[in-house]
Amino acid sequence: MHEFLTPYVLLAALAGAAVLILVRPAWQRIILSRAKHPSLAGHAKLSRLLASQLPYYSYTPEQALACDQAPDHIVDRRRQAFIDLSQQLASKTPQSQEIVAKLRSAVSDMQFTDHYRVPFQFREWVSAHIKPGVFADQTDGVRIRDEEGNWAYDLAGSYGVNLLGYDFYKRCIEVGSGRVAELGPVLGPYHPVLSENVDLLRQISGLDEVSFHMSGTEAVMQAVRLARYHTRRKRLVMFCGAYHGWWDGVQPGVGNPRKSSDVFMLRDMHENTLRVLRQRHDIACVLINPMQAMHPNKGASSDGMLINSERGANFDRAAYSRWLSELRGVCSAKGIALIFDEVFLGFRLAPGGAQEYFGVKADMVCYGKTVGGGLPVGVLCGKSSLMKRYREQRPLDVCFARGTFNSHPYVMGSMNEFLRYAVSSDFRSLVDGSHALWDARAGGLNRKLEQRDLPLRVANLGTVWMMTFPQASRFNWMLQFYLRAEGLSLAWVGTGRLIFSLNYTDEDFAAVERAILHAAQSMHSGGWWWHGELLDNPSIKKTVLRELLTSRIRA
Ligand SMILES: Cc1ncc(COP(=O)(O)O)c(C=O)c1O
Repeated sequence: MHEFLTPYVLLAALAGAAVLILVRPAWQRIILSRAKHPSLAGHAKLSRLLASQLPYYSYTPEQALACDQAPDHIVDRRRQAFIDLSQQLASKTPQSQEIVAKLRSAVSDMQFTDHYRVPFQFREWVSAHIKPGVFADQTDGVRIRDEEGNWAYDLAGSYGVNLLGYDFYKRCIEVGSGRVAELGPVLGPYHPVLSENVDLLRQISGLDEVSFHMSGTEAVMQAVRLARYHTRRKRLVMFCGAYHGWWDGVQPGVGNPRKSSDVFMLRDMHENTLRVLRQRHDIACVLINPMQAMHPNKGASSDGMLINSERGANFDRAAYSRWLSELRGVCSAKGIALIFDEVFLGFRLAPGGAQEYFGVKADMVCYGKTVGGGLPVGVLCGKSSLMKRYREQRPLDVCFARGTFNSHPYVMGSMNEFLRYAVSSDFRSLVDGSHALWDARAGGLNRKLEQRDLPLRVANLGTVWMMTFPQASRFNWMLQFYLRAEGLSLAWVGTGRLIFSLNYTDEDFAAVERAILHAAQSMHSGGWWWHGELLDNPSIKKTVLRELLTSRIRA
């Protein structure tokens, strides 16, 4: 034995190694914990545990009307306003009310969305009297007609698909279907129109390869799967609050019955997240939904979660661009795939999408919704080094992904119509000009709301809007029904997300603005925005928490 390798030196070396082995994971753990958002949304396990323990309870109509300790004369006013509003809504669709009620018990999707339109404490009371219609049979310009002939301005935007107006997509489907009609719904061989789509998608994304899928969810699944395959690493990093479709691999928290151990949901726009990316060696990819720029670290808002008036938005284009470019730098340095999920925002921000708008290149980009020209689709574009589904030198080591309906000729036909318009100079000037236009529209509406002293504002990222409430209230969710009564068609998330299409003329928008102002005025007159001196957001939260605890103890 060498004279320096005494038993003492060996022992010290062993102890050092043991400390390293024990301390390093603990240190990594600490860094990871510090990169989680302090809210419940940042703690998947805790939020799941809480969700599993949260008891249901319900207000009687009288409890609901007075849940903010409003004085009797306000409660009386609300009672009458609720009767008037529910009668007004029911009178619009008298025939279909019963059919809808029957259908609801057989269509699980309908049951789900209906269940979460208002905070659960109010659900029984509200749903007994207000039954939003579900059928539509015609669109024209920016309006949509229900089965009983009522026209409404479309603010739901078909979950974001409707960027250019329904007439545009009707044309895409008609012309596109005509183009592939002689082939028909053949799968396997591609219709030749596919090759032009591939060229256009490569041009738009600036990436090498393309794969077609049936939905945005599938495109995201494929991106993450390929990133894991090529990096040979396990972890996916996504950001607190971001939605990426309903695959359980991108839903580490509430809503997903499967526990995922391979996802880190970290804090958006925060240095601690960059430290995790720099320090670890097991991260395959970082997934970005640029929609989060509007409300970093918070989920998309829905009226079902609107227990008080805390909801807000703060879009800062320069700050988000800086953040993305920092992420880009770390991902490049560490061999992590940077994936942009542009399924929702895609072509709304710029013809080149979020990559162009924020000035940052991704390694893979997912598109969906509008890119199908009105038909269902998901698209993944990426660098060749990440898109290959096999390894040249390992013939059995493949990353298997196929899908019966991918590259469906009818989808390829309508997509072609969309893509050809998406690269035109007309589209560029339309989208580029839309930001100032929609900011001005939002600003103008906010000024009018302020002048009328109404506790309602809008925040926007271009054509995607969210309503916010500057004054504490327990009834903000009621506004969705006043808006419907005024002839505005909303998605099931209500005032949490309004999606406009780019074909809204000034005249159309003026009509929507009038309807919003009138709805807000009715909400105010109905007493729903009564504001007691002691009512603020923390006190509302405390009340709800107390009720939850009491129900839990009783259960
Ligand atoms: C950003 C984002 N990614 C993925 C998806 C999932 O797309 P799809 O509903 O087509 O599966 C959505 C849907 O809303 C989305 O907004």
